[in-house]
Amino acid sequence: MNEYLDQQARLWNQWAPHYDAEHHDRDPAPAADFLASLAGAGPALELAVGTGRIALPLARHGVTVTGIDASPDMIKELEANRGDAPIEAYTGDMAELDTGDQQFALIYVAFSSFFFLMTQQRQAQCLARAAKALAPGGHFVIEATIPRAPGLLAGRQQLAIRDLTDTHLSLSATTHDPVTQVFTFQELRFDAQGMRLLPVVMRYVHLSELDLLATAAGLTLTDRYADWHRQPITASATQHISVYTRTGAR
Ligand SMILES: C[S@@+](CC[C@H](N)C(=O)[O-])C[C@H]1O[C@@H](n2cnc3c(N)ncnc32)[C@H](O)[C@@H]1O
Repeated sequence: MNEYLDQQARLWNQWAPHYDAEHHDRDPAPAADFLASLAGAGPALELAVGTGRIALPLARHGVTVTGIDASPDMIKELEANRGDAPIEAYTGDMAELDTGDQQFALIYVAFSSFFFLMTQQRQAQCLARAAKALAPGGHFVIEATIPRAPGLLAGRQQLAIRDLTDTHLSLSATTHDPVTQVFTFQELRFDAQGMRLLPVVMRYVHLSELDLLATAAGLTLTDRYADWHRQPITASATQHISVYTRTGAR
């Protein structure tokens, strides 16, 4: 294990028992529909698959899905959720992706998980490995937040109320290093059981940087949307869904 993977595995193992409950309000159906339309007969590969939030509904479209994730505990949750869906998941580092002779019609990374690679070098390597694992004409899809100023990018730190009821308080505490492009968060929850901390650390990537890294990896931007419903992307978009296509021989 390398230090970056080790750090992410440790953080996401903490999230694993809470992850699905924390994200129950994020409907994965539009993502699964979008990805199924690109996967065709498949197979598909999800980088940072987590508990299978998107991979499971995609597999239920009849697409065979493989998942890779840093956290053994997130994968255990996926296995508990799996049922008879055609999905296999294994522990590993998406920066070190190596699928041997197997090629995929679709590789995707959702919910800003690409940012968990923590350095530009690891992000470039991940794209190069993914491009190599794609069949010619295959697609690489990334869903990620668009880093923007003013707001977090302008300040070094922020404390925000996420949720407040008569039984609990959820806060999110953030620090930001604009030089390394690293955000460090803690999600804090206070309730009758006490206090719980859920940590996140990520290196965000600007769209221009992502496109440059993808081009260097042999991937061509073919579509970009504001959401999984294919809404056009505008200056007010807070996230992007970018579709890159593997063109040319390798
Ligand atoms: C926010 S969760 C996303 C899970 C799932 N894709 C979803 O959309 O719900 C981020 C996931 O990235 C995984 N991760 C972080 N660094 C990774 C790496 N280097 N290789 C593979 N997975 C990684 C974490 O273990 C965690 O499960």
